[in-house]
Amino acid sequence: MSKQPVKKKTDDVGTTGHSWDGIEEYNNPLPRWWLWTFYATVVWALIYTIFFPAWPLVNGATAGLLGHSTRANVAEEIAMFEDANAGIKQRLVEAELTEIAADPELNSYAQNAGAAVFRTWCAQCHGAGAQGAQAAGYPSLLDDSWLWGGTIEEIHTTITYGIRYNDDSRFGDMLAFGRDQLLTEEQINQVVAYVQQISGQEHDAALAAEGETLFAENCASCHADDGTGDITLGAPNLTDAIWLYGGDQETLFETLWNGRAGVMPPRGGAPESAVDEALVRAVATYVHSLGGGVASAE
Ligand code: HEC
Ligand code: HEC
Repeated sequence: MSKQPVKKKTDDVGTTGHSWDGIEEYNNPLPRWWLWTFYATVVWALIYTIFFPAWPLVNGATAGLLGHSTRANVAEEIAMFEDANAGIKQRLVEAELTEIAADPELNSYAQNAGAAVFRTWCAQCHGAGAQGAQAAGYPSLLDDSWLWGGTIEEIHTTITYGIRYNDDSRFGDMLAFGRDQLLTEEQINQVVAYVQQISGQEHDAALAAEGETLFAENCASCHADDGTGDITLGAPNLTDAIWLYGGDQETLFETLWNGRAGVMPPRGGAPESAVDEALVRAVATYVHSLGGGVASAE
């Protein structure tokens, strides 16, 4: 079927009087359905501006009679989730640290919340899988070599107060033996050779023999007589193959010449409003469970 052009009833509607090169425009009325829809939208818009936030003001906008606010909705939802978690968070704060892992409900909450805290506040320094960062000085939390102790209580204290961050933090001083002229360059080379010896590396035996006495006099007070370290001072074990900064001759010399002072902010730098005591306990439980966690002495 071929379409018939619609015949205009010229006499009914007339033209607008416009004419372009002889082409005239009819003055057809708008279709009814269109016109009513249009009026309806105008009415709807007016009603909307009365009940909902609409007109921009200098600061913000008119609130509308319903007081609707997506921001308030979000706040309400967050409050709802917090209410739902309030019970378990309270139990987490009141539980003995050593009992959290044994309580299935607490442990499951702590593992989930702890992993989330770790991703947000710890991974940038300790690596996404807690394996330690590429850069030296950021320890792996997966192994059982601990600077400050691997019991749940010790891990909890480290996270709560941080390390060398403020007066409350854990503190231990690896002195700058070279820079502060406590030892000569020659003596440092000797003690470096001794550290290489006790960590099972190739070393110059003659230098190391000299270094042994120097170690007993200058280092044993913190790193223990046998070099296995002291977690109350954050002094690393120098006899294992796990290094915070490095065990090669050059790095050891640098450590001894300039000293070291690794810094960790309390709660990984999170404000207490974001990581409260319950979440500190959660992330401590998570870290303790990663593989290197040490059982607490009862
Ligand atoms: C800004 C970097 C940074 C952030 C963020 C950070 N840490 Fe650390 N953390 C360190 C450094 C550096 C050390 C080692 C300090 C030292 O030399 O004694 C450390 C040490 C630790 C230790 C002690 C390890 C041991 O062997 O005793 C634990 C446990 C720990 N961090 C857990 C966490 C947790 C959990 C978070 C997140 C809440 C976190 N850290 C966030 C830098 C950071
Ligand atoms: C007053 C305590 C103290 C004394 C004394 C001390 N250290 Fe340390 N040492 C530390 C602490 C604390 C650290 C960890 C620094 C850090 O975490 O940033 C450390 C770190 C080290 C490291 C780095 C280990 C690694 O895993 O990279 C070496 C090596 C070391 N000390 C060797 C020595 C030697 C050798 C002497 C003696 C000449 C000595 N220290 C004396 C406290 C001490």
